Amino acid sequence: MVLNNSLTMSHEYALKVLHSNAIAIDATAGNGYDTLFLANHCKSVYSFDIQQTAIEHTRELLLKNNISNVELILDSHERLNQYVTHQVDCVMFNLGYLPGGSHQISTNYKSTIIALKQAMKLLGKNGLIIIVIYQGQDSGFLEKEKILSFLTTISESKFIVMKYNFCNQSNHPPILAIIEKK
Ligand SMILES: C[S@@+](CC[C@H](N)C(=O)[O-])C[C@H]1O[C@@H](n2cnc3c(N)ncnc32)[C@H](O)[C@@H]1O
Repeated sequence: MVLNNSLTMSHEYALKVLHSNAIAIDATAGNGYDTLFLANHCKSVYSFDIQQTAIEHTRELLLKNNISNVELILDSHERLNQYVTHQVDCVMFNLGYLPGGSHQISTNYKSTIIALKQAMKLLGKNGLIIIVIYQGQDSGFLEKEKILSFLTTISESKFIVMKYNFCNQSNHPPILAIIEKK
């Protein structure tokens, strides 16, 4: 297939800005797959999650893969700017709940939008914020609507914002949105 799903596309776009000196943030560590991917393609990664279980799953995955360039942070991404104060190249948000975990503990649009605003301030020129937005899950429709609506308000002179969506697929496939700093 040429038209990959949103998750695969999120990594394909990240690769465009990752390099051996790049700095990345995984705003939602979860089971650590995105953190591992980022760590393999850049100098250092800050990886956030509000759940201890997610941080431990991520730590185990990194250990198994001999990865040591990740700082794991057990805190909400809405406090991202308390941990990262310098310019970054790529920020990934893979929204929703921890696969295999409680559906009650999920990202929510209020803190996601606070974190997106902070991430936008940290982005260097041509840096990317990559967001995988789920819909149709427990709170997914509301989060999707609010985030897509927030994206339309972003300054056109400072950022390019795109949305990648499938229009003929059942079961509400995830949407990919990307913000690029001009
Ligand atoms: C879909 S999972 C992420 C998948 C992950 N990137 C991976 O590769 O496995 C979403 C994660 O976001 C976390 N999360 C929810 N709200 C958060 C917040 N405010 N700050 C940071 N992480 C949060 C959840 O605990 C969950 O682990």
